[in-house]
Amino acid sequence: MTQIAYVNGAYAPLAHAAVSIQDRGFQFGDAVYEVWGVRGGRLLDRDAHIVRLKRSLSELRIALPMPETALMAVVRETQRRNRVRNGLIYLQISRGQAPRDHAFPAANVRPTLVVTAKNLDMAALEARLSAGVKIVTVPDIRWARCDIKTTSLLPNVLAKQTAREAGAYEAWFVDKDGFVTEGSSSNAWILDADAHLRTRALTNDILHGITRAAVLRVARERGLKVMESAFTVAEAQAAREAFMTAASAPLVPIVWIDDKIVGDGRPGPLACSLRAAYLGASISD
Ligand code: PDD
Repeated sequence: MTQIAYVNGAYAPLAHAAVSIQDRGFQFGDAVYEVWGVRGGRLLDRDAHIVRLKRSLSELRIALPMPETALMAVVRETQRRNRVRNGLIYLQISRGQAPRDHAFPAANVRPTLVVTAKNLDMAALEARLSAGVKIVTVPDIRWARCDIKTTSLLPNVLAKQTAREAGAYEAWFVDKDGFVTEGSSSNAWILDADAHLRTRALTNDILHGITRAAVLRVARERGLKVMESAFTVAEAQAAREAFMTAASAPLVPIVWIDDKIVGDGRPGPLACSLRAAYLGASISD
């Protein structure tokens, strides 16, 4: 099936969909994005992603290119045209197209809107869930506004490549004090030796993950001992369980961190049950 992309008002086959080489997303990474997970044809955490998108845009002073309801209609239509039942929707808004100059272009330059959607290989996802994945750790070399979901992702790209070359699924960034910040495209979690479920607190050092927030909610509803506090690599390696969360892969268990096995080397029971609870709670209408 030909994949279809939405670009600035028109739907086109992915192979022909294009933006200008003067687009500021291309030239400067001057753009923000969102990713929704889709399960059974329905969006996960639909509204929360829109709230974060609007915040990212306002932090960078990029205008929403159309009203929110129209934007969601484009998201839905892109999903429909690509027949996505279990997969992802990607939305990107750049500051628009203008002759290259670092400073913002004139106020009448329209932001560029791109939406794509694809089905995921669910068998591969299931295999990852039942075996668990390996991650590696890398120094966090990113900027001071990791809370903004911008397409400027070079350190994340390099970190993920380091992971791939090490035969790992994800890389966790580690700050200068030895604490894990987050993954290259996910948030980081452990169930520590004292049975506290831990993930780093929200600051500008990490992306405020939508899946993270939803998993925290279901964990608290279940009465788990939850701590939003940073942990070291050694604490993660000694943890009972470790896992990662992202819209692209909600709650994947981690069984190796660098050269150490986590727990008994199998996906932890808490990660598996939280995953089921998360999916149940986060499907939108
Ligand atoms: N990444 N941290 C980073 C750096 C991320 O890029 C992501 C998501 C997350 C998890 O956020 P959420 O739960 O809202 O997806 C945390 C997306 C999926 C991506 O870049 O493809």
